[in-house]
Amino acid sequence: MATSVETTFNPHVDYYPPTLLAKHGIQLSGNTAVVEVRHSTADIGWVPELAKFHQRTSLRNRDILRNAQVPKGWPKAVLHPLAWTGSELKPEDYAYDLSAVDINEIKTALSHFKSSGLELHEVRKKTFPLPLLGPRLEGFCKNVYDGKGFCVVRGLDPDSFSREDNTILYLGVSSYFGEQRGRQYQNGSMMAHITDVKFDDIPNDERRPLFTNISQPFHTDLLCGILAMYVLNKAAIGGNILLASSWTVYNEIASEHPDLIAELTKSEWVHDTFGRNPGYYCRPLLHYWKDRLALVFSRRNLTGSLVTPRSPDIPPMTDAQAEALDAVHFTAAANCITLEPKRGDMLFINNLAILHSRSSFEDSPESKRYILRLWLNNPELGWDVPPKLKLAWDRIFAKLSEINDHWDIDPYHDESGWQSDKAKSSHNESRGRKPRTNGRGKYFRTSSCG
Ligand SMILES: [Fe+2]
Repeated sequence: MATSVETTFNPHVDYYPPTLLAKHGIQLSGNTAVVEVRHSTADIGWVPELAKFHQRTSLRNRDILRNAQVPKGWPKAVLHPLAWTGSELKPEDYAYDLSAVDINEIKTALSHFKSSGLELHEVRKKTFPLPLLGPRLEGFCKNVYDGKGFCVVRGLDPDSFSREDNTILYLGVSSYFGEQRGRQYQNGSMMAHITDVKFDDIPNDERRPLFTNISQPFHTDLLCGILAMYVLNKAAIGGNILLASSWTVYNEIASEHPDLIAELTKSEWVHDTFGRNPGYYCRPLLHYWKDRLALVFSRRNLTGSLVTPRSPDIPPMTDAQAEALDAVHFTAAANCITLEPKRGDMLFINNLAILHSRSSFEDSPESKRYILRLWLNNPELGWDVPPKLKLAWDRIFAKLSEINDHWDIDPYHDESGWQSDKAKSSHNESRGRKPRTNGRGKYFRTSSCG
């Protein structure tokens, strides 16, 4: 007898849509993994603290660790263009200034697409033709996947385009890096709007860090092949983007503390879903698959943050895990490159191989930091997804019948102006709190795919 898939899905309660669970043959009974708790919670928070890291390291038993090695089958070191340090890189390694000819080609493609009558999800290389620039962008994509791991395409003036046109040309240019796009919220929203959203009734310390002006520790996004950011506007002060090669981080830690590499590869890392069902899931942070290293984690899901504290009823983090997590952060910080985003920059970052963080910033009325974020994959050039990431990958990229994928072009404005309620709801998500509404604009809630 054929079994039907239960299609009831509440993105604020359920972490996995039923069709995704069916596809992966998973039946939820409590949590997807069981961790035996034999330790106390490590003293670690979302903000890395060097003193605590050093203290934890000093307490380890050096005699036991002296002969530690990376896990069997893993490289002692990786020699590859992806394994860089920030001081080695020159702008020509990663930055491209669009010429006047390039920009005209983009404008022509924009007009072509708009006259076609197609919808946003239909922006493709074919529908956004860039005969001269396109091959160059495809070359940059190869560099993102198997070269330096990131690139910056600069020279556009976002202020000379409407918000809709900026979205179309962003999708068009980014098509040459990846035509496959991931959903960023479980309500199917495909593009995130990263800015310091000021709401009268939601203070700074009650919003997720992503939507504030505070700094962020090193992390990757969950989950995509290429993380794309289009800088519509930059902050008046700060807001730099820091990038670090995970492959260099691997080499450094493998050389100094190979036992921590082993820790990062274990499956017992508890990822908080912040009140959804299941309450947590487990998977390694570090993967070695088809001769490639992939380091994938969001620190917030592991430690919680000030705004989204770690759920008290999920298994704690061990001291060894805490040390490994901080070792990644501080090694990345020591080897990173700092980019000062310019208005119009498009950044394309290999999310499996490059860690990113952000410095704090201050906006001014004229300069309010605003970034459009996409999660992309290039089916031809993209890396094979490590087996233990496939469920998470499908959650972002698989077509799921419960979810209506859609595009929010300007979610912070509606017919009544700035600060629509649907924008508020996206900041309140994943805390299990109900968004406050004052009756302005459309009301809907959304839950992060992170
Ligand atoms: Fe991020």
